[in-house]
Amino acid sequence: MQDSSIKVYKGLEGVYVAESDICLVDGQNGKLYYRGYSIEDLAERSSYEEVCYLLLHGRLPNKTELESFKDEMREDRDLPKGVLDIIKHLAGRAHPMDIMRTAVSALPAYDKEAYDNNEGANIRKSMRIISKAASIVAAIYRFEQGEDYIEPDYELSHAANFLYMLKGEKPTDEQSRLMDRELILHAEHSSNASTFSCLVTASTLADIYAAVTAGIATLKGPLHGGADEAALKLIIAIGRKENVSSYIQNMLKNKQKIMGFGHRVYKTYDPRAKIIKEDLLNIEKKANTRIKRLIEVVLEVERETINNLSGKGIYPNMDLFSGIVYQYLGVPSNLFTPIFAASRTVGWCAHIIEYMQSSKLIRPLELYKGKRDLKYIDIDSRA
Ligand code: CMC
Repeated sequence: MQDSSIKVYKGLEGVYVAESDICLVDGQNGKLYYRGYSIEDLAERSSYEEVCYLLLHGRLPNKTELESFKDEMREDRDLPKGVLDIIKHLAGRAHPMDIMRTAVSALPAYDKEAYDNNEGANIRKSMRIISKAASIVAAIYRFEQGEDYIEPDYELSHAANFLYMLKGEKPTDEQSRLMDRELILHAEHSSNASTFSCLVTASTLADIYAAVTAGIATLKGPLHGGADEAALKLIIAIGRKENVSSYIQNMLKNKQKIMGFGHRVYKTYDPRAKIIKEDLLNIEKKANTRIKRLIEVVLEVERETINNLSGKGIYPNMDLFSGIVYQYLGVPSNLFTPIFAASRTVGWCAHIIEYMQSSKLIRPLELYKGKRDLKYIDIDSRA
């Protein structure tokens, strides 16, 4: 007999799985804090490198600490030849997220500390993963285009170097700052699906590379990280401001999800979406006709969808706007989710390290609804 008092929490909705000091997503008030600092302050005043230090070490660095942290991150940018060979072999044959997942899972082959799970080693490995993940994304793009890999520029910031490794040209200050802000906004978001995946893997005492690989696999789907690519696809498919109303009404009538809207925790406007929208409005004047058109359409999609769905607590999330900023920076849509993953490596690593401090194997239960004690019939006697 099954216990009728057992409640199954589909999608683990409303279930707390750990205690954490890393990130607060206040879904009712539309607030987000990394280690207690508001996302607005960090996006405005910090840098991706400083945010990485904050997330990994739990506090803001002083000047000397930040400089040496940046130096170490720079030194970690290069990729082993074996990993470049893997990327080159796969480029163009699979989605960049699949290639990125494969490349990251190959990194322990080149790391003497790969299977050392003590905290110091895990912080050093986190820095390697964060730095190399950006280089991996750039390498995937270069090889996909039939171009050569560009060696990192050790003088540039993490964001500027990423754009440089992608395009082969040093970005302007405006481009670097836009990319830096995107990376800050994507760096961490508490126990979402991909972070939870990392924790499940880490809870088996597998190493940090294995756990991050699980995170990349989980981020890929269109309900999670893949929504940025899907949202841009939708904006492009709508095409013109005049088409928005009928397109969205049709989607709603057919019970289709509008990509870039809704969130399991935010029941109001995602604060990251507000910041990216500000960036979009700032670039609008300088942008070319295509980007201007995308901005026009996305703002109309925002208006129409909020009008229809705000009653259900559905508002834009950051994926609605971020793809257009990337397009302004010349980044193709199949790199949006890999860039999200590269930025999120720090959040994943911070959670893995925190979880390992008092790890417990994650092993939930299923409520079995199937049959029991069936009679096994030999294959020759089956109908
Ligand atoms: N468009 C239309 N209806 C929606 C949407 C949407 N984007 N999101 C939720 N709903 C409706 C849904 O149909 C359901 O309606 P009803 O109660 O009438 O059946 C209700 O809202 C609850 O939806 P749900 O899917 O049960 O809620 P959830 O908490 O499981 O969904 C979500 C969260 C993010 C999966 C969902 O909102 C969604 O699929 N959004 C589109 C994909 C997207 O933009 N994902 C990025 C999330 S933010 C970045 C990240 O963390 O990766």
